[in-house]
Amino acid sequence: MSISIFIDKDNYHTLLLTHLSPLTRYPMSAAESALMTTLLEDYSTESRRFRGLVCAVTGGSTGIGNGCVRQIVSEGGRVAIFDILDSEGEALAKELGENSVVFFTHCDISSEDGVAEAFTSTLQRMGAIAFDVLICMAANFIYREVHLATHADWDRALNVNIKGTASCVKAVIPGMRNKGKGAVVLTSSITGTLAFPGFVP
Ligand SMILES: NC(=O)c1ccc[n+]([C@@H]2O[C@H](COP(=O)([O-])OP(=O)(O)OC[C@H]3O[C@@H](n4cnc5c(N)ncnc54)[C@H](O)[C@@H]3O)[C@@H](O)[C@H]2O)c1
Repeated sequence: MSISIFIDKDNYHTLLLTHLSPLTRYPMSAAESALMTTLLEDYSTESRRFRGLVCAVTGGSTGIGNGCVRQIVSEGGRVAIFDILDSEGEALAKELGENSVVFFTHCDISSEDGVAEAFTSTLQRMGAIAFDVLICMAANFIYREVHLATHADWDRALNVNIKGTASCVKAVIPGMRNKGKGAVVLTSSITGTLAFPGFVP
């Protein structure tokens, strides 16, 4: 069996599977071998794991969420950012493809109704019926010694980190169920298990 070397980029997977198949012809010609090397290098740097996927990243305006948005876009996905930092989120959307690739929506995830409304309206803007991926990066921290933390601090942190995250998961589950698949990524921190001075986990 021979390997077709005249394939377009969209057929990388086919080529790789063919190459790895026990039916593959060996040895390859020098030209085939050189092309295979190029394609494999290309493939490893241009992974397409998110191609065609509709993703949501909470807390996507800054920090690790911002990095997630960039990575998803670089791998072919479209992303909805839900955050309270408007200017940072809008700037990121503009940089990567506002309202075509990246959609910023102001959303305070501690509001249950606000999350439901924001997720529904953003899906409509994206022309999609469900999110394929949800990455929860929105977080609120208490930068105090634990004995100085107030109920207001705890309420704020728990409303975002626990209840807010739960609301976001709740907003995507029905759509994922209808689709029969989906991925939800929740984020924690080592500070949940290790004590840090001046920082309530
Ligand atoms: N930075 C680290 O070194 C590190 C290490 C391990 C784990 N983590 C975890 O990763 C997650 C993200 O951390 P980070 O460092 O990127 O944080 P960050 O503070 O840089 O970003 C958090 C984002 O969440 C947004 N946000 C806060 N409250 C919100 C709300 N009510 N609604 C919507 N968005 C809101 C913020 O505006 C911000 O854009 C956290 O869960 C953190 O514990 C971070």
